[in-house]
Amino acid sequence: MRGDVETIKERLDIAELASGYVKLEKAGQGFKARCPFHNEKTPSFFISPMRQSFYCFGCGAKGDIFTLVQELEGLSFKESLKMLAEKVGIEIEYSPVLAGARTEKDKIREVLEKATQFFRNQLLGSDQARTYLSSRGINEESQKLWRLGYAPAEWRALYNHLSQFGYSKDMLMKAGLIKSVEGGIKEPYDVFRDRLVFPLSDASGQVIAFSGRALATETQPKYLNSPDTILFTKSEVLYGLDLAKEKIRRKNYAVLVEGQMDLVLSHQAGVDNTVASSGTAFTNAHLERLKRLSARIILAFDGDSAGDKAAEKATELALFMGLEVKVAKLPEGKDPADVAKAKPEDWKEILRSALPAIEHFLEKIILSEKDKRKAGKLIGDKILPLMTLLQSSIERSHFVSLIAKRTGIKEEIIWDDLKRVKKSDLTRKTTEVFSVENLTGSPADAVRDGLSPQNLASKREKIEERLTEVRLWVKELTKNSPEANDLKKEEVELEGHLSKELLGQELSELSLALAVAETSKDSEEASKLTKRIHGVLKKIQVLEDKKVL
Ligand code: CTP
Ligand code: MN
Repeated sequence: MRGDVETIKERLDIAELASGYVKLEKAGQGFKARCPFHNEKTPSFFISPMRQSFYCFGCGAKGDIFTLVQELEGLSFKESLKMLAEKVGIEIEYSPVLAGARTEKDKIREVLEKATQFFRNQLLGSDQARTYLSSRGINEESQKLWRLGYAPAEWRALYNHLSQFGYSKDMLMKAGLIKSVEGGIKEPYDVFRDRLVFPLSDASGQVIAFSGRALATETQPKYLNSPDTILFTKSEVLYGLDLAKEKIRRKNYAVLVEGQMDLVLSHQAGVDNTVASSGTAFTNAHLERLKRLSARIILAFDGDSAGDKAAEKATELALFMGLEVKVAKLPEGKDPADVAKAKPEDWKEILRSALPAIEHFLEKIILSEKDKRKAGKLIGDKILPLMTLLQSSIERSHFVSLIAKRTGIKEEIIWDDLKRVKKSDLTRKTTEVFSVENLTGSPADAVRDGLSPQNLASKREKIEERLTEVRLWVKELTKNSPEANDLKKEEVELEGHLSKELLGQELSELSLALAVAETSKDSEEASKLTKRIHGVLKKIQVLEDKKVL
């Protein structure tokens, strides 16, 4: 197979392949185009025929011919291999080892597909489950579209059914469909019992896991997800992405909801660019995926305090990642499913009137806090840190004017406060936790609070990776072309960031050592380390004063 990959790479040219998807323009030794993975007006997607690779300076998408068709067609690597092999007219030979690895995942996919069909048939035969669905307002068309099913109230209905086809216990276990009894004497039993079943698919639409909604109100937990398997990572999957991805790209925004019910009813109401996280908070992984389709999102979480908190967290993360974020305002105590079920038009109207996240949170403060002084303090604590995440200064000044207009606080004062405000901890973990005043506290705490060496290392790796790309592309672009000049500028900036990250890492290591020294009451070592920490802090200060960052 390795040989096949090489053969395909030799016979197919990346520029030619890409030209089937985007319009290419010459740029130095390579080509540029408007990125197919995110929405943009000016091209930042570059193709290097020399290195047979692509890179987007806007969204960070990168790879070779296989990655390109995987991402664009929503295929697995194996499928992309098959597709490109056909293009060049070769037959793929699998090595025994890879063939083994291949069949394991394939078999699990196959088993999950069989399970989906089983649940589906069970639903069609269960009046109780169908009555439940219609009481939730989900029509038959939606049930079919989302392949909703029902896991019967028996211990081994699915297990027995799948065993007939010869699937081993081991395989069903690996697929996350059955689990064994502690002690292991009795036969394993079905994970999903007496639950409405939502199949969760990957981007290409293949079922990789299930989420089950309890039918009986007293059953706990209300929702049960498949365990993580070789196909399924809970914190990464976006429910509905397979059906919504094209719409997100076309409409150029995505609607994010929290639950499966919200998602199904939102689509049913015609909002077909909706996706849902599945029982977890929105993570980088989710947002990275969405960012490739569109840089604009609307967060539509439940109208309760948990929903508000989730929206705040997601906003912070999304702004940090350079997304354009709006927040929809749900009626108190309602979730998107409630609204979309009661009146689809209302749901659309709520989305239409979603405000930019910062404005949304500002309005909330102004409405709920009538005391001007207290409102001012809340704005300082909650809104200004979000504003430090904005990448465009035009936007930042827009919100400064808005705050001034809405509160009567003078713009200069807001600017002053904004300059002084600590950047949101996402960007500033290092300096915030390690301000000189804080050093008297236990650095071990600080380290535990997120300044883990791993975190820093991965951030550093990201910067290094980008820097490598920038340097590679500068070489291939025409000297002094606008693109090359922009990249040169970025190179300098990234070098600044990198020095700061390296210092941050040093700081983290020193403080771990300091914590150890303090614990073992080695005061001589501790004071030595404190001195070194101060030295590093000073260097960070110098970098900041230079305003390279
Ligand atoms: N969830 C979960 N485990 C739970 C509760 C919730 O995994 N015990 C996840 C599910 O993905 C669910 C989402 O969190 O869809 C939102 O939870 P919640 O708002 O409580 O559920 P609703 O969407 O309101 O569900 P329903 O309308 O069915 O009551
Ligand atoms: Mn809900």
